[in-house]
Amino acid sequence: MSWKTLSQMDLKGKRVLTRVDLNVPIIDGKVSDATRIEKIVPTVNEIIKKGGTPILLSHMGRPKGERNPNLSLSQLQEKLENYFKSRVVFVADCIGPSAETALKVAKKGQIILLENTRFHPEEEENDPEFAASLAALADIFCNDAFSASHRAHASTTGLAKYLPSCAGNLMESELKALESVLVQPERPVATVVGGAKISTKITLLENLIEKVDSIIIGGAMANTFLFAKGFNVGRSLVEKSFKPTALKILKKAEIYSCEVILPTDIVIAKELSENTSTSVVSADECPENYMILDAGPSTVDNIKHCINNAKTLLWNGPLGAFEVAPFDQATSQTAKFASNETKNGHLISVAGGGDTVAALNQAGVTDAFTYVSTAGGAFLEWLEGRELPGVLCLTQK
Ligand code: 3PG
Repeated sequence: MSWKTLSQMDLKGKRVLTRVDLNVPIIDGKVSDATRIEKIVPTVNEIIKKGGTPILLSHMGRPKGERNPNLSLSQLQEKLENYFKSRVVFVADCIGPSAETALKVAKKGQIILLENTRFHPEEEENDPEFAASLAALADIFCNDAFSASHRAHASTTGLAKYLPSCAGNLMESELKALESVLVQPERPVATVVGGAKISTKITLLENLIEKVDSIIIGGAMANTFLFAKGFNVGRSLVEKSFKPTALKILKKAEIYSCEVILPTDIVIAKELSENTSTSVVSADECPENYMILDAGPSTVDNIKHCINNAKTLLWNGPLGAFEVAPFDQATSQTAKFASNETKNGHLISVAGGGDTVAALNQAGVTDAFTYVSTAGGAFLEWLEGRELPGVLCLTQK
């Protein structure tokens, strides 16, 4: 790793502009999942312990460059105070006189929260003058927002041009976890790639095939592969126009000796609802008026066998329509198996992506995984082999 860590920086008496990701879900004015807040606590504590002043900088939602009270970070002030066990001063703008005055009067070690960076259109334009105005508030730029590092914005990349920069503790853990599965992994490496659409995961599959030993394909994405193999998929969610892509991916997997595990049996129903009647049939036997909604028990056995042989597991995307029982079975049984293998010390397991985290939470196994990323889009882009601007900017000095 060629970037500096927080522990390598002299923070004494320094104002540390800390890019965090406070883009947390809010339902009825309440934070419904505070994981992203919880995970930045070590960075904030370390800055204070080393004599610095943490100035938190973040976006929330997509306000398109306009002030929007529903997306104000002021809503998080109390929640942050609970997690940091310390007072947090909220400043109603992230640049300009209010921010400058707040910083002038701030005591050493005082946590400061600046307003949503995306209230300024210049943030997403990565405008140099805007980045310079942000930089004028501080001495050091600490990027602790891995989950926003696929965005080349002023607060994620622009700032690195103006200030000595480093990665925060969360950024460091995320990158280490990802490197442990794809850069220097313990082999064999198995991956679960699920979700609804093959069209959103083509680059991911193509990159993984070159690097891992097996890919377990699940969710509605698997339907497109079954369709490509000439199987009847009834009324299932399927991207028929991606048949050639699916066949190309299977061919590439053969060339790279990457095993592809597709459903051999499927759970079918006439509708996606809890009380509907379901059957398990062979993967090539979905009747015309039925939908494939989960992988069947023999497929789950194949998946467990594959994970049992692996030393590393990377997971992105659910294996079935996990939000509606009983179509959560393949996902939750696989998740439980992987978490037990991890607990027994047989497996390094890394998971990420919005739906994946929700599925692991539902199965009650999130804490047993070696690492669960807080990132959605950034996690996917990193796995696709793309350079993330928010990480790259830290290595360019
Ligand atoms: C996320 O939730 O994935 C990050 O906060 C990035 O948000 P964005 O997709 O609006 O840039």
